[in-house]
Amino acid sequence: MTQPSGRSFGEQGGLLTYGKYLRLAELLDQQVLLSDPPVHDETLFIIVHQTYELWFKELLHELTAVRDAMRAGTLWQARQLLSRVHIIERLLVSQIDVLETMTPQDFGEFRAALAPASGFQSVQFRELEFLSGAQDPGFVSRFRSLTDDERRRLARRLAEPTLWDAYVDLLASRGLPVGTDGEIVAALRSVARDRARHDDLWQLAEDLLTHDELAALWRARHVQMVERQIGTRSGTGGSTGAPYLHSRVPLRYYPLLWELRDSL
Ligand code: HEM
Repeated sequence: MTQPSGRSFGEQGGLLTYGKYLRLAELLDQQVLLSDPPVHDETLFIIVHQTYELWFKELLHELTAVRDAMRAGTLWQARQLLSRVHIIERLLVSQIDVLETMTPQDFGEFRAALAPASGFQSVQFRELEFLSGAQDPGFVSRFRSLTDDERRRLARRLAEPTLWDAYVDLLASRGLPVGTDGEIVAALRSVARDRARHDDLWQLAEDLLTHDELAALWRARHVQMVERQIGTRSGTGGSTGAPYLHSRVPLRYYPLLWELRDSL
């Protein structure tokens, strides 16, 4: 359409377009159904999982920057990015509602074809756990069929400092002893009780706790959805299903921040 200025809106030079910039041809070509004839709800199932993976990519991008901002001592930047992380995480919890519009009967029409694939194999999900602070190498050995690149990514996340490591270093940089868990809790208590001096560290710890809380909320919401969809049947990935997922709900990224609550 020609604008009053005489320029064709969005078409200058015909070089970059919306679709080319966002690589939409490639992106929108990735929803390949396994069901044949196609089952209506499989499109939703694939798109919901793909959008999760895109948001996981964004969260890794943000949380890596949060960790690096903490290490550089720019706490305001870490906090600003964490506030974005929280909003994305709330979105990820509420996105489960979309998938729950699928009935178990409709899911049953294509579920069998998915085995042994499972969300359990989401490498980015595990990277998020490792980067946040829950570095359990057992998950790497339990992964089957990792590509070399995925294995390298997970190994790198296990070797790198976590968000918690970066936070504890900040406590140390204020002259607070952090040699043992007991000392760290004492340092956290000092921070909580001297807001005049340490308010930035207090607020940052609260933001980390919110990140932890929202991750736990997702795990709790995911297992509810799983029970609604498949009851107590085992998972396509070969776990016990809901019992396994319930065992993961109490996971805490920052147990000492929760322990601190006992003495405030
Ligand atoms: C109909 C919907 C879904 C069902 C029935 C379902 C079922 C399951 C089950 C049974 C497990 C345990 C592992 C296994 O044996 O397979 C699992 C794990 C997992 N699922 Fe889902 N899931 C669903 C949707 C999703 C979505 C939308 C995501 C988003 C990425 C997701 C991500 C994960 C992750 C990350 C794990 C590993 C959790 C952990 O190890 O703590 N799932 N899922």
